[in-house]
Amino acid sequence: MSSVKCRKTLLVIGAGNMGEAMLKSWVQTQIDEISVLVLEPNPSDWLKSLFGKGLVELNPRKIPKQIDICVLAVKPQKLAEVLEENRSKICKKTLIVSVVAGKDFNFFQSYFEKNQSIIRVMPNTPVSVNQGVSAIVAGEFANESEIEWVKKLFTPLGEVVLLDKESEIDAVTAISGSGPAYVFNFIENLIEMAEELGLSTKVSKKLVIQTVVGAGVLAESSTLTPSRLRENVTSPAGTTQAALEVLMDSQGGWKPIIKNAVNAAYNRSRELAGRKK
Ligand SMILES: NC(=O)c1ccc[n+]([C@@H]2O[C@H](COP(=O)([O-])OP(=O)(O)OC[C@H]3O[C@@H](n4cnc5c(N)ncnc54)[C@H](OP(=O)(O)O)[C@@H]3O)[C@@H](O)[C@H]2O)c1
Repeated sequence: MSSVKCRKTLLVIGAGNMGEAMLKSWVQTQIDEISVLVLEPNPSDWLKSLFGKGLVELNPRKIPKQIDICVLAVKPQKLAEVLEENRSKICKKTLIVSVVAGKDFNFFQSYFEKNQSIIRVMPNTPVSVNQGVSAIVAGEFANESEIEWVKKLFTPLGEVVLLDKESEIDAVTAISGSGPAYVFNFIENLIEMAEELGLSTKVSKKLVIQTVVGAGVLAESSTLTPSRLRENVTSPAGTTQAALEVLMDSQGGWKPIIKNAVNAAYNRSRELAGRKK
């Protein structure tokens, strides 16, 4: 595990939403162990300020010969162009870490050495507040110490799970990758209802968001299952039961809707990666 201790040179290509979220955490938590270089055509003021403080190198003219880790965080449609552009900066020993959705190990094969180490990561947007969850899947040639390094990079951004096989990424995308949007949409609808029932926008927002945060923290910290926690809120013939009879209806309730929605995301993820539905 000694390689985990020496300072690594990390090249981040693409500093948009996800790239910045990762950088934010890395400059706070790992700056003693990594030197960070960033390639980004339109750096934000925040990124420029990191450069101003000497915390990262931004669009440097000269790239060091030995890049230990190259993190790819550009949009999927830009990836081929970016790999062509930066091929010469990557050596045999560079560990490639890709957060790019839908681009599988096969895709990378034509750009790198046959036995290049590649690790794919599927984070989600709550990484921007260090409350994300990142699923990691290692390519055939990535070794244990490289996997440890990637875990170490993503742990400060939230939880990390290690997948057994690449095909599981589609399920991860449909659950935790897209999942924050499902929760945001639930929040939107509940706020709208609170307002319809006469509460002010400010109070509605506070009630709904804190209910979601509180229920999440309770579900995470309790030894009880989510079903048991739900039952604990539900008194017979009470208000919660009245609502749950609607939400848990086998035909018109959440279950068939969630199933359809998650399957739609899962199938789309497979389609984008060029796999069959
Ligand atoms: N956001 C999420 O929830 C999420 C979750 C999991 C995975 N991902 C993955 O993360 C990746 C990035 O997503 P994002 O939401 O961060 O996208 P984004 O905000 O568009 O960020 C991508 C950045 O890459 C820059 N870029 C474009 N061409 C470049 C080049 N040749 N060299 C260096 N940088 C270049 C873009 O600059 P311009 O804007 O000037 O083109 C942009 O700032 C995607 O592949 C996505 O699949 C995102």
